[in-house]
Amino acid sequence: MSTRTSNVPDEILAINLVDPSTYIDNDMTEYWRRLRSEFPVHWHPPVDGNPGFWVISKHADVMSVYRDDKNFTSEKGNVLVTLLAGSDSAAGQMLAVTDGKRHKDLRNVMLKAFSPRALKRVSEWVRENTRELVAEAVRRGECDFAKDIAAQIPITTISNLLGVPVEDRSHLLNMTKSALSSDDADQSEADAWLARNEILLYFTDLVAERRKDPKDDVISVLTQTEVDGELISDHDIVFNCYSLILGGDETSRLTMSDLVLSLTQHPDQWRLLKDGEVDLDTATEEVLRWATPAMHFGRTALTDVEVGGQRIAEGEVVTLWNIAANRDEAVFDDPYRFDLGRKPNKHVTFGYGPHFCLGAFLGRVEVRELLDALRSFTTGFEVTGEPRPIHSNLMAGVSRLPVRFHPDENGLASAGT
Ligand code: HEM
Repeated sequence: MSTRTSNVPDEILAINLVDPSTYIDNDMTEYWRRLRSEFPVHWHPPVDGNPGFWVISKHADVMSVYRDDKNFTSEKGNVLVTLLAGSDSAAGQMLAVTDGKRHKDLRNVMLKAFSPRALKRVSEWVRENTRELVAEAVRRGECDFAKDIAAQIPITTISNLLGVPVEDRSHLLNMTKSALSSDDADQSEADAWLARNEILLYFTDLVAERRKDPKDDVISVLTQTEVDGELISDHDIVFNCYSLILGGDETSRLTMSDLVLSLTQHPDQWRLLKDGEVDLDTATEEVLRWATPAMHFGRTALTDVEVGGQRIAEGEVVTLWNIAANRDEAVFDDPYRFDLGRKPNKHVTFGYGPHFCLGAFLGRVEVRELLDALRSFTTGFEVTGEPRPIHSNLMAGVSRLPVRFHPDENGLASAGT
């Protein structure tokens, strides 16, 4: 046993954070509570041939590493799979795994996708699309919320933003689902790798088309954008379209399903929402904190450095557990209470610092519009079958959520959808 873990009890060491089944087979509440209070900078021993890594669980420590791009890099990966492999093939090309000046330049380029004009248009699409889908499902009476509603909104939003043709969208959705996590434990890392490559190939073709024949969409804007006097390469555009799809699809999808599940589990909060007694923006933040779909991100130490009083050696992997930080008693009153009126709400669901989520505005719009559509069109809803948790060490949530709705006839009539 390493001296780093000599005082750590077996029940803590027995939890294998690399194994996706861990998050399905265990209630992790007590684990994270003990880590925050007793082992806030915990050394996770090597498992399954992977190197060991640091596990950071307190909000203040998580924020301090997110903020610190001098002592920590994202270029050796930013999620467990790539961090433990010691590299990410998209390093220096894809925003989330690029540091320094190149990150700043690329981020400025990508911000063009998020201009106020583009965002206004996209927000209107989100509203229309969400209201239509929810009204339709409520009229039908039942649906698989994860598949029929949550899966449709983010991919349509990003596809609209990027200008992905309607007929290609369901294929793209299937690929993104396989690329990051899987609905069942049978999918191999090779399937995920193939799916990621297929997305890259798809965007390579689309970028080539838009260079020849620009349209009014973000890919066309990017093909005409220069950095340091040079047009951005097709390759860079492709990688960053991919990062928007991967970053913006599954996270939002899982948050929306979690929102519905959580409201069925907390009828008092649904009542407050339905009666208009909570502010939608405030409620949105609590939904995001509660769901925390991206359980962790991570960095590699560039030098010997201290976090929370613990020395981390150069080259070691440090993982930042958003799910633990978002339940930190030192920051949130009664953190295990789902409280749509919670204020302040300094969650780290979108990360923090230089890599703070580029799509946070959109993620918020998607949640807010779903809350609004639910409270307009239904008087209540219940889960009618077993929700199916996804299988991932990065993402948390469900991929199946059978729901029965009770229509609000007045709301449906006045919406006219
Ligand atoms: C970065 C979460 C929605 C695109 C991040 C990070 C987190 C996050 C935690 C930081 C990663 C790190 O520090 O290594 C989420 C959640 C979302 C969401 C929880 C929804 C609820 C979106 C959407 C988009 C998007 C809708 C795009 C349309 C990105 C990109 C980055 C990023 C491009 C990298 C930013 C950079 O490195 O500068 N996201 N995200 N995300 N997100 Fe999101």
